[in-house]
Amino acid sequence: MDTSSITFVTNSAGSACAGLFGFASHAQQVAYLLAAMLFILALANLSHQKTAQRGNTLGIIGMAAALIATIAATMLDSTNGAMPAIALIAAAMVVGGAIGVWKARSVQMTAMPELVALLHSFVGASAVLVGYNSFLSAPGEAGVTSAFHLGEVGLAVLIGAVTFTGSIVAYLKLSGKMAGKPLMLPGRNALNAAALAMCAVLIAWLIQTRGIDAGLLPLGILTVIALVLGAHLVLAIGGGDMPVVVSMLNSYSGWAAAMAGFTLNNDLLIITGALVGSSGAYLSYIMCQGMNRSFVSVILGGFGEGAEPKDSTMPAKNLGQHHETSAENVAKLLREAKRVMIVPGYGMAVAQAQFPVADLAKRLIAKGAIVQFGIHPVAGRMPGHMNVLLAEAKVPYDIVFEMDEVNDEMNDVDVVLIIGANDTVNPSAIDEPDSPIAGMPVLRVWEARHVVVLKRSMGNAGYAGVQNPLFYNDNTLMLLDDAKHSVDAILNDL
Ligand code: TAP
Repeated sequence: MDTSSITFVTNSAGSACAGLFGFASHAQQVAYLLAAMLFILALANLSHQKTAQRGNTLGIIGMAAALIATIAATMLDSTNGAMPAIALIAAAMVVGGAIGVWKARSVQMTAMPELVALLHSFVGASAVLVGYNSFLSAPGEAGVTSAFHLGEVGLAVLIGAVTFTGSIVAYLKLSGKMAGKPLMLPGRNALNAAALAMCAVLIAWLIQTRGIDAGLLPLGILTVIALVLGAHLVLAIGGGDMPVVVSMLNSYSGWAAAMAGFTLNNDLLIITGALVGSSGAYLSYIMCQGMNRSFVSVILGGFGEGAEPKDSTMPAKNLGQHHETSAENVAKLLREAKRVMIVPGYGMAVAQAQFPVADLAKRLIAKGAIVQFGIHPVAGRMPGHMNVLLAEAKVPYDIVFEMDEVNDEMNDVDVVLIIGANDTVNPSAIDEPDSPIAGMPVLRVWEARHVVVLKRSMGNAGYAGVQNPLFYNDNTLMLLDDAKHSVDAILNDL
């Protein structure tokens, strides 16, 4: 073959490769755009129980499209050939996927918040590693572009490191491996503010640097300060308020991912991170409203001072006499009731009573009663806790209502059946201005004709540790036993 032929063949191969890369890059952008749209649609669908399953499916398809596009692009882009890239990605996916499936199958519903906290720490760690990788492959040089790049690296490392240690501490507290008591260092807000100010100075220093050696020093100090800041922010929070903090860390992990997206120049990661960041922040806001807490103090840390779950055996104020009842009596009341409201709480989750409760609702509907479920936004121990349990027991969505939808109709209800709820139905939130739960919105169940409370004892208070005067009202009957036993017994008598 003469040299002109060789040149022709080489050029053709070169243009074919360039064409392939060009096509792959466009295909990747299209796949990313599609995935971003699917993620937004998934979130929109997840906001209603009826469409939540569709939302999950759309999210899965979006994630599959993003993964395939990323893996394909990495293979085509790899300077060492496609095989090592495929082998590394496959190994990471097999190990990560196996651990994920094992954890998802084995985790108890009540341990979900601690698992979520641990998962957030991975996102934080990834953002730090991506930041370092990005810095090492493109350290500082002269020019505005490099300054922007280093600024992104600094922010990714800052947010990622705060999320990483904050989430680890949250995990340790939630799993009981660390005491839940808040660490109250003197002047802790000033310490946090000083740490943030130092981080800002270090990022400004990083932006000025040229080369790896010069940049590593401010980046290293920044990482250490951010790691300590993240741990301190969450150490200062009472273990009892950790679920709100987990939701806040969820938001931080989203912003960490978005920053990693900037450093990687990856639009999809920026969009996804922003979606997680803003929806996590909004969820924390809703939870704060439901618990009557200040949103700003959660963001700034140190939230939950003295908000530890109180000693549930504290001496009782004399609230009068309570009236105990039997399953047989409750069955009689229900048989006569035309309208029944079921209000579940944390005790239903503990007793795993959702299945007999669903059967009871079905039975009452079959006999012609109107049955509704009234759900408080922070009933249980995690967002949507009751909705998940009721969905698991196949309670139809159209009889499950939010607190605000049923509160004004309470005086039309013949029997309210409270299954292991306490704080969320406590009238002292409205009547006693100095109560620890004063101002917390509650379900006004006492306005119904009859109230039946299913719990195990009169001694144990709810999560907030405050007594509940509802239990001593004349129209309240107490059925004291494990909620599952009680509902089974009522079903038997019905
Ligand atoms: P709680 O006020 O926590 O009361 C739970 C009740 O269930 C207790 O009265 C307990 O009394 C009873 N119980 C426990 N195990 C039971 C069983 N096996 N059978 C029957 N009853 C049982 O519940 P709630 O009304 O759902 O309120 C939730 C609380 O958690 C609120 O204070 C909220 O602010 C807080 N919180 C919620 C979240 C989220 S996001 N949902 C996050 C953090 C904190 P006995 O022990 O006598 O049975």
